[in-house]
Amino acid sequence: AKLLLLHGPNLNLLGMREPEVYGHTTLEQIDAALRATAEAAGHTLETLQSNAEHVLVDRVQAARTDGTALVLINPAAFTHTSVALRDALAATALPFYEIHLSNPHAREPFRRQSYFSDLAVGVVAGFGADSYRYALDAAIARLDTAPR
Ligand code: DQA
Repeated sequence: AKLLLLHGPNLNLLGMREPEVYGHTTLEQIDAALRATAEAAGHTLETLQSNAEHVLVDRVQAARTDGTALVLINPAAFTHTSVALRDALAATALPFYEIHLSNPHAREPFRRQSYFSDLAVGVVAGFGADSYRYALDAAIARLDTAPR
């Protein structure tokens, strides 16, 4: 199946950005590792990072009709702000997994609210770059049980 991995704002700086919070792994390394895992399981994985809300909204809208089976998304700061991105995911009605490197519940109070968690199949947070790996493993398991 076709999987889509989306990264929100500032995740292009991963590896350099507050490494004590987000770790030293770069976004390129995460994308490459996930792509390899998806392909080894017989799937394809497209990745996109954007700092622009509308680019992510447009990509999610396109996923309605381009054969995407499932979305993995770290909305980053948009987690706490973006009704628009939430509405786009609701409109596609595609299953999605919400991912965070850090544990937003262990940080500033404003990070406790997510516009995505109540719609997500599941949320993986707090395991650094491994959060992406665990979410992909769960996604692949779901696809294996309910192929489309
Ligand atoms: C994040 C957590 C968000 O609160 C923050 O704005 C990010 C990254 C994470 O992966 O831990 O940019 O989504």
